[in-house]
Amino acid sequence: MYFHGTSRVNEKGHLEIGGVDVVDLAQEYGTPLYIYDVALIRERARAFKQTFEKHGVKAQVAYASKAFSTVAMVQLVEEEGLSLDVVSGGELYTALKAGFPPERIHFHGNNKSYEELEMALQHEIGCIVVDNFYELSLLEQLSKQHGVTTSVLLRVTPGIEAHTHDYILTGQEDSKFGFDLNNGQADEAIEKALASSSFKVLGLHCHIGSQIFETTGFVLAARKIFKKIGDWKEKFGFVPEVVNLGGGFGIRYTSEDDPISASMYVEQIIDEVKKQVAELGIPMPEIWIEPGRSLVGDAGTTIYSIGSRKEVPNVRQYVAVDGGMSDNIRPALYEAKYEAVLANRVLDENEEVVSIAGKCCESGDMLIWDLPLPKAQAGDYLAVFCTGAYGYSMANNYNRIPRPAVVFVENGEAQLVVKRETYEDLVRLDVPLKAKVNK
Ligand code: LLP
Repeated sequence: MYFHGTSRVNEKGHLEIGGVDVVDLAQEYGTPLYIYDVALIRERARAFKQTFEKHGVKAQVAYASKAFSTVAMVQLVEEEGLSLDVVSGGELYTALKAGFPPERIHFHGNNKSYEELEMALQHEIGCIVVDNFYELSLLEQLSKQHGVTTSVLLRVTPGIEAHTHDYILTGQEDSKFGFDLNNGQADEAIEKALASSSFKVLGLHCHIGSQIFETTGFVLAARKIFKKIGDWKEKFGFVPEVVNLGGGFGIRYTSEDDPISASMYVEQIIDEVKKQVAELGIPMPEIWIEPGRSLVGDAGTTIYSIGSRKEVPNVRQYVAVDGGMSDNIRPALYEAKYEAVLANRVLDENEEVVSIAGKCCESGDMLIWDLPLPKAQAGDYLAVFCTGAYGYSMANNYNRIPRPAVVFVENGEAQLVVKRETYEDLVRLDVPLKAKVNK
């Protein structure tokens, strides 16, 4: 059994996180319930930040809020002194509501709307990561209207796609994101951006993928980017202030995953950038990174109540929980794997192998296949680990299931940070049919 962060088994044999008994939380707040280990989020955040500090490299570690965006989470990110990535008006609104300093917000997205860009300029956010030519001209027009010079990064597609362990060197060109680095698009984009008085071009951005367990992809991407910077230095006298290498640092979901530490990623990135900078004879730019999953993934645990059971003789035992693809769509969408324990009987011997089914009306709504467990009964609590990234943020109301509550735990205290949706919430935006008028 593998416990993350402050998770442990207490004297009652219950799972405890942040010094709080998870069974008590389930009883107080109901299930399903997302529980976040705040100390672990802080530890993960500090590991990235402190590695840059240790090496005296100017950096911004921007939390990719798509992984889990709520007001309290954004406030925690601010407490830890990180920056913040947003990818929509909704994430930007959440950040502003949380009182996050606008100058440390970066705005991503391959199809930012006029209204979203307008909102970003109005609130004077730190920088916009420009993704395509349409956005470049829209943003130029808006910047003129506002009478401002907008700080931008250009998102480039370096032609490297990271699939956890192998790197495809051409595949990523077929991507909806960014200016292609190999076919002339990026050259055209930088020429346009540099020629416009509406932009301050801070530098370049790339993101090569997610759940990556090696440093090779980041190193290759940095090499490609700096090769281009070398060309642009000659041609336009361009020297970047910022190079942003994106997110994607892998975490341990199950024993099959073997991630490396934050400091190893960061040190390899720093080494490569230093090497490239020395070759080009330019000053060291700030290095920006954008971890999402690796800051919150293993800090999140979902607690479910166990309900019905179905045996398919000689084939499988289905054990159903009171949530499923509505609170964690990752198994259905990506065949993502998770580990779990009975939160109220952690030390009991495993007696059977069961498959954990969700409650949605869809055969594909399975959370975990073939999980060894003690004999689980209705009323037991199942704790599924590592659900902190892209769990709540991808939650939905399929089958009109209300989204669960979210609780933060730290130092023996629990705080509700997102309330459970109610049935009333579900119909709040519905508009009834107009009453028939009798003629
Ligand atoms: N920066 C950019 C530009 C990104 O597109 C992403 C993720 C990140 C940073 C953060 O990546 P992370 O460190 O979290 O891997 N829903 C999927 C993940 C989609 C990731 C999209 N972009 C999942 O549940 O696995």
